Amino acid sequence: MTTSPPLSRRTFLAGGSALALAGCISVPNRDPIIVGAAPLKERAARKGLIIGAEVSAPLLADPTFRNTLTRDFAMVVPGNALKWGPLERRRKVLDFHNADAIADFAAAHGMMMRGHTLLWHDMNPKWLAKHLADRRKDAARLIRRHIKAMAGRYRGRMHSWDVVNEAIEPKDGRGDGLRNSLFLKALGRDYLALAFEAAAKADPGARLVFNEYGCEWGWDVGRQRRYATLRLLEDLLDKGVPVHALGIQGHLDPGSDGSLDTRALGQFCDAAADLGLALQVTELDARDTSIGGSIESRDRLVADAYARFLDVVLARPATEAVLTWGMTDRHSWLTGHFPRPDSGIVRGLPYDADYRRKPAWYALAAALDAAPPRPGRENAAPDAS
Ligand code: G3I
Repeated sequence: MTTSPPLSRRTFLAGGSALALAGCISVPNRDPIIVGAAPLKERAARKGLIIGAEVSAPLLADPTFRNTLTRDFAMVVPGNALKWGPLERRRKVLDFHNADAIADFAAAHGMMMRGHTLLWHDMNPKWLAKHLADRRKDAARLIRRHIKAMAGRYRGRMHSWDVVNEAIEPKDGRGDGLRNSLFLKALGRDYLALAFEAAAKADPGARLVFNEYGCEWGWDVGRQRRYATLRLLEDLLDKGVPVHALGIQGHLDPGSDGSLDTRALGQFCDAAADLGLALQVTELDARDTSIGGSIESRDRLVADAYARFLDVVLARPATEAVLTWGMTDRHSWLTGHFPRPDSGIVRGLPYDADYRRKPAWYALAAALDAAPPRPGRENAAPDAS
């Protein structure tokens, strides 16, 4: 197990790019040899934190992907395998093979796993919306059956579940800021309580998470999103609904002015923690789509966004986990969804397409090193992999 003194932010900011290059010696046809930097999961565990990454099952067959993942990360989350669409393309025909492969890989390598996501307005089966609309009286039973099949299958194996993902959408014009999703249309806002209660019944040991994006935005819509999220969480908790944590996705956009308001984000984290909720950073990446210039300057701006965002969230003792949405730019969803004008790879993750650590990796490492220990959980050794 490699040990090295914690990276100070000054060290990182002064020489991050040099460290990034020095941190990796690539040998032809061999995994890159990582020297001089303790793995992220060790840095996180020293502070009682969990560091994880989004994965897809086919990538686990790649030795470089696999070795880099198990070296640095203590948790995995399936990017798409546990969404309703990929899982149940044909009604009542459930396909868990990808999710099971990820769960088995995690278990074999002593890694934790979190589930994403039981209810989301996107990537649902084509038959679902009409089915819910035509059979409103059946909607609650159908949703309960779905959640029981998903959360029940991995009972006792999931650290946490994103029970409801992205339920807030102020543009939909509702007074409560909720997204007018197929679930809201079928059951009204009661669908949220129903989902959390069904998840708690199916897997009593999992932390149940409400997962949202745009929590860090400086624009007025960011303020609206934070306000609606807190009101919703307050209402659910007041009714005794088992919500345990708030998931802050953290899809950063350093090329857009105003996309990160650290003061508003800090106040939001404190307000959620005051409700008794744990915090998780669930989908961290930082797209450089609208950033021109050299690779070095783009990487520096991405790393700076990581540092500014993580400094705020990790300063809160309620924060228990940070997961990046992917690990290497080679497989990031960003390049397809936010294509660069120059058609280059979007460089939003800790590793580049050749599995070299980038300044973002060092910013993540420095933020973990600078984070205060979580009370009573510091020095939790990461499982050996
Ligand atoms: O499976 C089909 C494949 O059969 C087809 O050939 C191919 C052609 O485009 O598409 C494949 O589906 C793609 C799917 O990912 C699986 O790879 C969809 O087109 C693509 O849109 C979908 O993108 C996913 C995106 O959610 C959907 O909005 C990304 O991989 C996934 O990383 C992303 O993740 C979401 C989180 O779940 C929630 N938070 C936001 C985040 C980004 O949108």
